Amino acid sequence: MIKKLLFIATASVLLPSCDKTSPEMDFMPDMYESTSYKAQKEDANSKDGAAARVPPEGTVPRGFQPYHYGVNETDRAGKELRNPLLSTHANMGRGQKIFNIYCIVCHGLKGTGEGFVVPPFPRPPSLLTEKIRNWPDGSIFHVITRGQNIMPSYAVQIQPDDRWAVILYVRALQRAGNATAEDMKELEKQSK
Ligand code: HEC
Repeated sequence: MIKKLLFIATASVLLPSCDKTSPEMDFMPDMYESTSYKAQKEDANSKDGAAARVPPEGTVPRGFQPYHYGVNETDRAGKELRNPLLSTHANMGRGQKIFNIYCIVCHGLKGTGEGFVVPPFPRPPSLLTEKIRNWPDGSIFHVITRGQNIMPSYAVQIQPDDRWAVILYVRALQRAGNATAEDMKELEKQSK
């Protein structure tokens, strides 16, 4: 009985009562009343009067990888860049996910150009052509990074490692779309 009374007494002190619209007291208010400036506000102490500071010249955000190829340097990128990812099941699966989020709308499920937005969007060339099969990974990476003619750049949406992964999946689509008699034998063996 005493225990029960004690519990009720403690609870009524600690718990805010339901008919109040404001809390009894602010417990450690510094935790939620931050004294920092809001990004879009003014700051009299700053040189240009803005609260948001401009990063010093020549600095890059953490983890940022500069890209040194101009929009027309598809060939040079192809010669110099190497895919850092191994062609594993996991990396290819990651590439498939990215492809199905970003590329499928235009390039289609199999990469042949029958995307959901085609038409009205002009039909892109197939990714299974001899041209792209012979392109090094770096050239495909370049097109995803910089875009090509009416294809926009996907550098903002797709992080570099995901771009490399999507290329592994494009390679799988190319292989699937150009299967040899040997591939078919292998498939038959697996399905037995
Ligand atoms: C908005 C539609 C659209 C999306 C999304 C898109 N592409 Fe493209 N892509 C195109 C078009 C259109 C072209 C042809 C551009 C041109 O005329 O040179 C193209 C060209 C390419 C080429 C060069 C083909 C060639 O024969 O020159 C590659 C490689 C490519 N895309 C890969 C991708 C990959 C990988 C993705 C996803 C990360 C992607 N694209 C997303 C529309 C798109």
